[in-house]
Amino acid sequence: MKAALTAIPQDIVAALDYERHAREHLDENAWTYLSSGAADELTLRANEAAFQRLQLRNRVLVDTRGGNTRLELFGHRYEHPIFLAPVAYQRLFHPDGEQATVLAAGTMAAGMVVSTLASATLEDVAGTATAPLWFQLYMQRDRAATLALVQRAEALGYAAIVVTVDAPIAGVRNREQRAGFHLPANVSAVNLAANAGSQSTVLKEGQSVVFDGLMAHAPTWADVEWLLAATKLPVLLKGILDPVDAIKAKDMGIAGLVVSNHGGRSVDTWPATIDALPRIVAAVDGAIPVLLDGGIRRGTDIYKAIALGATAVFVGRPYVYALSTAGALGVAHLIRLLREELEITMALCGRTTLAEIDRSALW
Ligand code: FNR
Ligand code: LAC
Repeated sequence: MKAALTAIPQDIVAALDYERHAREHLDENAWTYLSSGAADELTLRANEAAFQRLQLRNRVLVDTRGGNTRLELFGHRYEHPIFLAPVAYQRLFHPDGEQATVLAAGTMAAGMVVSTLASATLEDVAGTATAPLWFQLYMQRDRAATLALVQRAEALGYAAIVVTVDAPIAGVRNREQRAGFHLPANVSAVNLAANAGSQSTVLKEGQSVVFDGLMAHAPTWADVEWLLAATKLPVLLKGILDPVDAIKAKDMGIAGLVVSNHGGRSVDTWPATIDALPRIVAAVDGAIPVLLDGGIRRGTDIYKAIALGATAVFVGRPYVYALSTAGALGVAHLIRLLREELEITMALCGRTTLAEIDRSALW
């Protein structure tokens, strides 16, 4: 296992190059946790493959001067639509963990979504941030603990709450199981009380370990309604794939949706996110922004997501591969690569603003 680099090697010119390099900088335990998906990893692969199937139209001889990738979201101006997805336990991947990521996000003006399971405190991350932060919330088993997390995020200036709803319990992570994945002693979810979630539910005769045990304290729509009344921050739901849920969320007052299948880590054979996106966009019909994550590896993928109605995208594994390879420098470089690819795609396809990237941009 090699130490993280302090300069970017010449052969790293695209997100995929970081995946290859990351493998050499991580032990088998961290590599497996980061790179794997649920069961047979069909959804994990489908996320990327579905983007690759889409083709683009080009419009030539367009004057692109003044072109830009700007957008407005929840009252903030963002220079580009690339956000860093919430990824737990980043000190598994680099000694500076989330502190390196937030430094890079600031340098590259990228929004960052900080996980409930971060290995740095919400306070330390906020202290280093120079671009907007959003807080990814895993609802806790008691509401007081959830409220305490939300109020910390509010007080620290986090600009939105992203409630992840597609992973209240772990999926069937066979590759992690085969590798015997475990958190090393020096990496933990430092924002949670040490005993959070550790009391197990005593089952009665005939009760299920899954439905009555592991899921006993999983959030429901009633908890979302409670949360909406408890915070003034915009609340997004992450992990929406079904239009019925999208409409329910919109009607309840949710500020935005993230079409996501948790990077293929939750249930295998859930659809690829880019395949699910159009139905979610149609269901909410412009009432609230729809974001997407899963399988974004190229500027053309971002362009395709926007063409199908996404307002912005989260990138997950690619920036963590970059973090593993070269810390903050790597993450900043990765964001720059994706942004440059997006700009080059726009210029060569004759679209000068994100608003001009609509369905007519697809072949
Ligand atoms: C995740 N993801 C995730 N999501 C979330 O809401 N909270 C979390 O703590 C985590 N942790 C996490 C750890 C690791 C190692 C991975 C790979 C992913 C899911 C993440 O936010 C995002 O949905 C996917 O990673 C997007 O897919 P890509 O970009 O990795 O293909
Ligand atoms: C994961 C959890 C932490 O995907 O969200 O590993």
